[in-house]
Amino acid sequence: MPVQLTPIDRAKYAAARRAVDLVEDGMKVGLGTGSTAAWMVRALAERVRDEGLRLTCVPTSVRTGDLGRELGLKIVSLEEAGWLDLTIDGTDEFDADLTLIKGGGGAHLMEKIVATASDRMVVITDASKEVKTLGHFPLPVEVIPFGWQASRMLIEELLNAMDVMGTSARLRMNGERPFVTDQGNHILDLALGRIGNPRQLSLALNQVPGVVENGLFIDICDAVVIGYGDGRVEMRDIASGTVEHERIVFEEPDNIFKDL
Ligand code: 5RP
Repeated sequence: MPVQLTPIDRAKYAAARRAVDLVEDGMKVGLGTGSTAAWMVRALAERVRDEGLRLTCVPTSVRTGDLGRELGLKIVSLEEAGWLDLTIDGTDEFDADLTLIKGGGGAHLMEKIVATASDRMVVITDASKEVKTLGHFPLPVEVIPFGWQASRMLIEELLNAMDVMGTSARLRMNGERPFVTDQGNHILDLALGRIGNPRQLSLALNQVPGVVENGLFIDICDAVVIGYGDGRVEMRDIASGTVEHERIVFEEPDNIFKDL
């Protein structure tokens, strides 16, 4: 039965397909979390199956690990892998410097650890996530459950002194209960509107007792692959300063998307 994908899903798939071409035989690869990263895991598993690539993969969440294992990828922990060649992940926002907001899926702590333990981080996205100034997407901050209300008060106080437009920190919920991350922590989503100085904000947030990690990724991402619904992809590499344009051909859509 043909599967109808939205243009956004086709865009995510196109970006994912282009990004997995960067993976070479023998690599240790970090696998991101979220719907775009899930396309990447599928596309990578396809290459492993078709080309016999020998890869070692480190997931950034329990759910990505489960998906990778299900599709036949060799999944190990970061401790086992040591250092990675490449991490491919999605994002919630990115700007011209490839500073990111991540954590919409609640996995930014593991994502940041895995990305910074990699030679290279490549972000895959559709075009809607590019912004001039970060902050429209609420900034996730992971806090330990003990005294999270006190951490929230301190965060709201410090936001008054930052170059941002909003100061409210909302506890992320999962139905009636607070959302719990893979590390057993909670998440505060900061409605900031605009982040004038991401570096200053990131440093300040991580000083607050109880804060484990915030969702700003600064000087971590090396390249972005932007996908479009018609199969076009644009790859911007910040290190080399190059921009490449290509087109992914959706050859056999029924086949590609059959396991959805
Ligand atoms: C998870 C993340 C995701 O990469 C981000 O939320 C993007 O998700 P999606 O690809 O589903 O739009 O940071 O913590």
